[in-house]
Amino acid sequence: MSKQTFINYKEYRWLVVTIVSLVVLLAIYALNTPVGGRNGGTFVGYTYGVLATIGIAWLMAYGGRKRAYSSSLGTVEGWLAAHIWIGTGLLLVVPLHAGFSFGYNVHTLAYALMVGTIVSGMWGVMRYATLSDKISSHRGGQSEAVVLDQIASLGSDIESAAREKSDAFLSLVERFDFIFKPRVEFLLRRIELPPVNQREAGEFLSRLPEVERDEALRVIGFIDQKIDLAQGLITESRIKFMLRSWLFLHVPISVALCVAVGIHIFSVFFFW
Ligand code: HEM
Ligand code: HEM
Repeated sequence: MSKQTFINYKEYRWLVVTIVSLVVLLAIYALNTPVGGRNGGTFVGYTYGVLATIGIAWLMAYGGRKRAYSSSLGTVEGWLAAHIWIGTGLLLVVPLHAGFSFGYNVHTLAYALMVGTIVSGMWGVMRYATLSDKISSHRGGQSEAVVLDQIASLGSDIESAAREKSDAFLSLVERFDFIFKPRVEFLLRRIELPPVNQREAGEFLSRLPEVERDEALRVIGFIDQKIDLAQGLITESRIKFMLRSWLFLHVPISVALCVAVGIHIFSVFFFW
């Protein structure tokens, strides 16, 4: 059996609800032949406009539900399942409301913004589907704070190993060790930290006094561990950023959509 996600939640319950609702709305639309033709101003047109507006208001409420950790009003997964399927269904409800009539006006702008919100939402779903499994798989699910602590503690081990050592030892540490600080750049482009170069490390080791060689090998091991941990964090921050970045489109477009719907409703009543 495949794993339950917000897409196939409870055997695609919300997809089924959406399809059944759309079939009913389509049937009513087809059976209804108002004088003057189908449009947003008929009884069915108004009803579908109100339905679409309630749908949008409810989709907007998802942001609140997501953050209401103590709410007992359904699971967040269930809400998101309903969000994506009902949201997609609105693609058809609004044309049914408008009698498939569009023009260069604020009404059509509202629809265009809705399509924009929906398309950005679909893009987000694709990101979740392709990226979420990659998170924390490479670092055994440890939290970022724990990994940062491990990096800091390796740093102190290296520092104490280098205490009272020869200049050659210090230059080896200076050459390969690094200070790790999270940077915005990590989010924006793929960064691969190279491992300690074995050939170069060998040259440094050959310049060391015999007594310091074992300790130097230990330090190189610490540095390699630091590189692994830092690389894991960098990769993960980038994936997390990619998982969220589409929301910078989805949320502002949805807010613009609400403004446009408000103007649309106000204008149809004002000019009535
Ligand atoms: C309470 C909710 C709503 C009411 C009362 C309402 C009312 C109307 C009315 C009366 C018309 C006909 C206007 C005309 O023919 O000049 C219309 C058309 C239209 N409405 Fe709505 N509407 C509502 C919600 C929405 C929503 C949520 C959207 C889109 C997101 C929308 C998009 C449109 C479009 C695209 C048209 C067709 C414009 C055209 O023919 O150029 N409406 N609406
Ligand atoms: C008119 C339609 C829609 C509106 C108004 C809308 C609005 C919103 C809002 C306000 C949020 C909350 C963002 C936040 O606070 O972080 C959200 C989240 C989300 N929406 Fe939509 N949305 C719509 C359609 C869709 C569609 C069709 C899909 C997918 C097919 C979708 C996928 C998502 C996803 C995946 C999230 C984020 C989930 C999370 O991070 O928890 N949305 N949407």
